[in-house]
Amino acid sequence: MKYEPTYLEMFLTKLAFVFCGKSVYRSFADSLPLEGGERVLDFGCGMGTVAYHVAKKLTNGQLTCLDVSERWLQACHKTLRRFDNIIFLKWESPVLADESYDVVFCHFVLHDIPDCELGKVIPVLAGSLKPGGVLVFREPLRNMQKTNIIKRLIENALSLKNSRITDIPVVGNTLESVYVKA
Ligand SMILES: C[S@@+](CC[C@H](N)C(=O)[O-])C[C@H]1O[C@@H](n2cnc3c(N)ncnc32)[C@H](O)[C@@H]1O
Repeated sequence: MKYEPTYLEMFLTKLAFVFCGKSVYRSFADSLPLEGGERVLDFGCGMGTVAYHVAKKLTNGQLTCLDVSERWLQACHKTLRRFDNIIFLKWESPVLADESYDVVFCHFVLHDIPDCELGKVIPVLAGSLKPGGVLVFREPLRNMQKTNIIKRLIENALSLKNSRITDIPVVGNTLESVYVKA
């Protein structure tokens, strides 16, 4: 399985960050239930496109940026260099401390993960939420079968709070859903 991005992929993501930062990434960060003091996990942070906007909101909180890719994590480090409330975490195996986060978000990540791995990853993400914590994802709606697998796995552990479809430039329709841990 490919874990490291090509330099072209990284360059295109940088362009998207510069030119669509507000409309795509900041709008998602703005939709997260944040007051400033939360512990937040960005699962599959990439170069920190959303994390950058979340970090600005966490005046009193802490953001963990997690990725499988060393190259993306290095890029994320660079994007977030001016913040001091960030933990960078390389995802070696699906383990996270239980009940650690108020908010976990996944932005264009889950659709890329093979079904067998999703079956391990999603329970770990759900377990890492504090009671009352929230999991938010935004994923492309190109593959309904994959979307349904993601929804089913999450709904085994968490309750759906709300869901909407939004149209994102280049990507097309995406599903944004918010789940709560009882
Ligand atoms: C399409 S990128 C999205 C990056 C970022 N969230 C954004 O919206 O710009 C998908 C990211 O998920 C990461 N990723 C893929 N599989 C993963 C896994 N099993 N665990 C953690 N991260 C993963 C990739 O390395 C990549 O950084």
